[in-house]
Amino acid sequence: MDRFIIQGGKKLHGVVQTSGSKNASLPILVATLLTDEPCTIHRVPNLRDVRTTLKILEYLGKKVEYKNGTALISANGPLKNSLPYELVKQMRASFWVAGPLLARFKTAEIPLPGGCAIGVRPVDIHLKGFEKLGAQAVTANGNVVLSADKLQPAKIVLRFPSVGATQNLLMCACLIPGETVLENVAKEPEVDDVIAFLNKMGADITADAKGNLTVRGKSSLHGAEHSVVADRIESGSYMIAAAATRGDVVVNQCVPEHNSILLEDLQEAGVPLEISADSVHVLPYEGRVKPLRMRTAPYPGFATDLQAPWMTLMALCDGAAEIDEDIFENRFMHAPELVRMGADILTEKSIARINGVESLSGAHVMASDLRGGMALVIAGLAARGTTEIERVYHIDRGYEDLEQKLTALGADIRRYNPDKNEF
Ligand code: UD1
Repeated sequence: MDRFIIQGGKKLHGVVQTSGSKNASLPILVATLLTDEPCTIHRVPNLRDVRTTLKILEYLGKKVEYKNGTALISANGPLKNSLPYELVKQMRASFWVAGPLLARFKTAEIPLPGGCAIGVRPVDIHLKGFEKLGAQAVTANGNVVLSADKLQPAKIVLRFPSVGATQNLLMCACLIPGETVLENVAKEPEVDDVIAFLNKMGADITADAKGNLTVRGKSSLHGAEHSVVADRIESGSYMIAAAATRGDVVVNQCVPEHNSILLEDLQEAGVPLEISADSVHVLPYEGRVKPLRMRTAPYPGFATDLQAPWMTLMALCDGAAEIDEDIFENRFMHAPELVRMGADILTEKSIARINGVESLSGAHVMASDLRGGMALVIAGLAARGTTEIERVYHIDRGYEDLEQKLTALGADIRRYNPDKNEF
C-alpha cells in the first residue's frame, strides 16, 4: 500500500488549479441512469471514487468512455436494477443509484452501505422519502429492496438536510409525473450542480426563497452535456495548506463564494487573502494564526469536509482554539495522529480543544479517512522533518493529482510503495 513521504518546512508558493468537484461528479454520473440517451460530463476528476462510480455504471449496463476529464455515458443494452455488495462497500455514494433505478424500474435492490470510519451514516432519510413517493422499502439479507406498483408525487420534509438523500430523492422525483415538494433540503453547491444537470436533461426543478425544491416530474429525460462545478473542498484544502505553511499561493478556477465561511475564518485568524471572481490568493503573514472557535454545519456553514484540514491549521495557532463537529459523530481520527506530530489536542464527544503549538514535527502516521488524511498531509508540509503517511488510498479517493499539484507549489512529497520498495 502506498505511503507519502514528506520533507516538511517548505512554504508553498505558486499557482494551483482547482479540479472538478468529486461530490458533484458522483451524483451527476449516477443521474445519467435516468436516460438512455448519451450524456457528456466534463471536468470529472480522475479519482478512485469516480472510477468506482464509472464501474457501477458499467455494471448496471451503461457504456462508459472516460478520457482527459470527460466522461461519455451512453446506452449499451438494457439496464440492471441491482448492485452487488462488492461495489457498494467501496463507496457509500453507490447507494445513490437507488433513486434513478427505482424511478425507472419501480423496483431496485441495493446493499445497505453500512457505516464508515467517520460514523454510522444510516440511510433512513432516503428510505422515508422513497416511501412517501409510494415505494415499499424492505431490508433483507443486508439489502434494501425497493418496490412500488405506482410511484406518486409527494411533499417530503427531510428530518435533516442530508446531501445524499436530497440528491437521491430529487433524481427519483424527476421521473414521477406531478409535483413533488422537498423541504429542509441540503443547499450545498454540489446539490445545485446536480439540479443544473437534471434541468439540462429536461427536468423541471425550481427552488423558492427558502430553498424548498419543487420538482415537476416528467415521463422521460434526455441526454445532456455539463461541466462539473469546482471542488470547494479541494480549493479550501489548498488554501489551508498555504496558510499552514505561511506560503504564497493562488488557488485558481474556484468559486470563492462556495468557501465564504472558510475565507472569513482564515481572515479572522490573520491570514491575508486577495479574493477575485474565480481565485483566492493566500498571502504570507508574520507570526502565528489566531485561535478561533468553529463548528461544522450544513451549507452555508463550515464544511465538515474541511474540519480536519482546519484542525491542522489551528494546531499551530497562538492560543486555545475549539472545533465542534456537528455533522458526523466520529470525525476526529486525525486528532491523535496530529498529537503524534506534536499537536496539543483533546477531544471529547463532538468537541476538540486545541492548544496551539509553535511548530509540528515530522512523524510516522496513518490516514484513517479521506479528509483526515489531507489534514496529515498539510501537517507534514508544515512540520519540521520527515513525515511518513500510511494508507494514502483514503486520500486518493478525493484529491486529483495531489503530489503533482503540491510539488508544483514547491513541496517535497513523494509516493512510496514499501512492498515494491519503489518511489
Ligand atoms: C455528503 C458528502 C460528504 C460530506 C457530507 C456532509 C458526497 C459523496 N459526500 O455525504 O463528503 O461530508 O455530505 O456534507 O457528496 N444521515 C442520517 N440518515 C440519512 C442520511 C444521512 O442520519 O438517511 C446523517 C449522516 O449519518 C451524517 C449526516 O446525516 O451524520 C450528514 O450526512 P449526509 O448529508 O447524508 O452526507 P452524505 O450525503 O453521505
